[in-house]
Amino acid sequence: MARAMALSLLLLVACFNLASAADSLTVVRADRKVDLLTQVVRVSTAWKVQNNGAEPVREVKLALTSEQAERVAFMEVVIKETKGKGKNAAVGLLLPVIRYSQEGSVIVYTLALPREIKEGEIATFESYVALTHQLKPFPEEITQSDSQLVKYHDTAYILSPYPVKVQTTMFKLSSSRLESFTKVNPTKVADTEVRYGPYEDVEALERKPITLHFENNQPFAVVEELVREIEISHWGNVYITENYNKLAHQGARLKGGFSRFEYQARPGASGVSAFRHLLAKLPVHANSVYYRDEIGNISTSHLRSDFRRTELELEPRYPLFGGWKVPFTLGYSVPLQDLVFKAADGSRYLNISFGSPFGNIVVDKLILKVVLPEGSYDVSATVPFPEGSFEQRQEKKFSYLDTVGRTVHVIVKKNSVMEHQFKNVLVHYRFNPLGMLVEPLMLVLAFFAFFASCIAYTHFDFTLSKSTSAYLAQVQRDQVIDVISKLQKVLGIRQTAEERLEASLKDVLRTGDITACKADRKNADAVWKSTSKDLKALLDTLQSTMKTVPGKPSTTKPSVIVTKVETLLLKEKEMVEKLQQKQTFIVDAYERKLSGKEIDARIAPVQEKLESLRQEVSNLRSSLED
Ligand SMILES: *[C@@H]1O[C@H](CO)[C@@H](O)[C@H](O)[C@H]1NC(C)=O
Ligand SMILES: *[C@@H]1O[C@H](CO)[C@@H](O)[C@H](O)[C@H]1NC(C)=O
Repeated sequence: MARAMALSLLLLVACFNLASAADSLTVVRADRKVDLLTQVVRVSTAWKVQNNGAEPVREVKLALTSEQAERVAFMEVVIKETKGKGKNAAVGLLLPVIRYSQEGSVIVYTLALPREIKEGEIATFESYVALTHQLKPFPEEITQSDSQLVKYHDTAYILSPYPVKVQTTMFKLSSSRLESFTKVNPTKVADTEVRYGPYEDVEALERKPITLHFENNQPFAVVEELVREIEISHWGNVYITENYNKLAHQGARLKGGFSRFEYQARPGASGVSAFRHLLAKLPVHANSVYYRDEIGNISTSHLRSDFRRTELELEPRYPLFGGWKVPFTLGYSVPLQDLVFKAADGSRYLNISFGSPFGNIVVDKLILKVVLPEGSYDVSATVPFPEGSFEQRQEKKFSYLDTVGRTVHVIVKKNSVMEHQFKNVLVHYRFNPLGMLVEPLMLVLAFFAFFASCIAYTHFDFTLSKSTSAYLAQVQRDQVIDVISKLQKVLGIRQTAEERLEASLKDVLRTGDITACKADRKNADAVWKSTSKDLKALLDTLQSTMKTVPGKPSTTKPSVIVTKVETLLLKEKEMVEKLQQKQTFIVDAYERKLSGKEIDARIAPVQEKLESLRQEVSNLRSSLED
């Protein structure tokens, strides 16, 4: 109950507000100019408003029909203020739209004034509105030799939220060919202009519908949806990609097919509403310009640039007639310092024009995507359009090396025209410069890992993969060589002991001193005993190495080696035993004081055997060397 009362009270207040504001302001004079030269309708109106009420007024209103409001691309209201004295004292101040409301079939925009209009005071301001899709081709289909005619509906009276004392309207046409027009006296036609008014004392929101039917051969280039992707790379560039896949001539459709012969034979009279080229005004330092044109409908392009501008002209293979499409993607890059700046507080901002660089194109829906560097935070945007006329959101985008993804600030606006080339969007963000190093660091690490594995690979001399039998055979071979060389060393030690003992025995035969020989025998025995363990271990290693023959044995070599070594060790052991036997005989013979003849007779067979064993061992040992 209380809520309902509050609501009705609020409504009452609102009505009263509206009534009082509408009542107190009167338009003493309004002059409107409607530019119908292109496919975009541009309306500029000079207003003189007077405050007839006692209360000062701080707001002004502007009205559009709801159909117009659907198609308004651009709206700006400027008030002339005089600052100081002199010629250039007058400055234009933009009035911000603070709210809008629907009243029947009319949308009323409320704008804030920089200072109030006092009782009896007159204020002067100018409104400028650009509208799309207001000109309808009529007829809808034409032949190649026809001109394009369009119909335009408006009202002879300016749509005003306030009563208008005196008003005039002038429609500027692109040609003097005017098929028909609605007369609302006084109406005057002069060359390419149609003048309505002056009319006096017209009520607020009063309309007088009129229709103009005239020639307009402008190519109606329209993109239903344009995605402009702006990618910031702190490594020095801003990359811009624009997708014109839905670009078409939306003027009167061509009927009866296209004749290149006729087109070339009658230049200027044939295909007058077709478009021959598209001109883009790119940022001054735009570089790496490219376009992707999948169906090859663009035959040539020219890139002109001087210190003030860079212009790209695309020329379709055929002149583009109504209903035809020319889909393509345009890309270019701009040096970072031209578009990204540092604010005083250390944050950064991108300053980029919102509109398409192709001036004469109408964009029904423009999606601006600003892809910020990875690691950006505190992202926000300053958009030069009134609240409610655009949408914004944030997304994430992942590319190859991204770890946390990039923030994408998306701004979507319906209806975009050339004026938006001069409207800049600011996208503010903060950025940790260390974040910049993440990707290169990852690359460096990846390369490091790669090289490290290369080094490891060459270090281990993997000529082949580890799993192959060739590799295993190689390993086995290395182990065998290792065992053999150790074996030779041990045998060398034993041989030295053996040689010492032989020398000692010769001395006994010469001097008859057996004490020294006994001591030498003891030393030699110790060496043989300890080294025989080593020999046994080495033989075991060799045998176990050879047991696991990788793959199928390509040669019989491994087992040959084992037998050879086994034989060698047996023979060597035998030889040592024979030497020990010989020493024992000699010592024994000397102790028993046997005759030289007897000694010789007993030693001879042992000596013979020892000699042959020594030869065999020597042969076996040298055969192991290869
Ligand atoms: C390419 O151009 C030709 C002639 O201009 C047109 O007929 C055709 O529809 C175009 N292709 C596309 C995919 O629009
Ligand atoms: C953004 O760029 C426009 C055009 O170059 C310039 O007029 C404007 O002052 C810039 N804005 C900021 C905040 O830097």
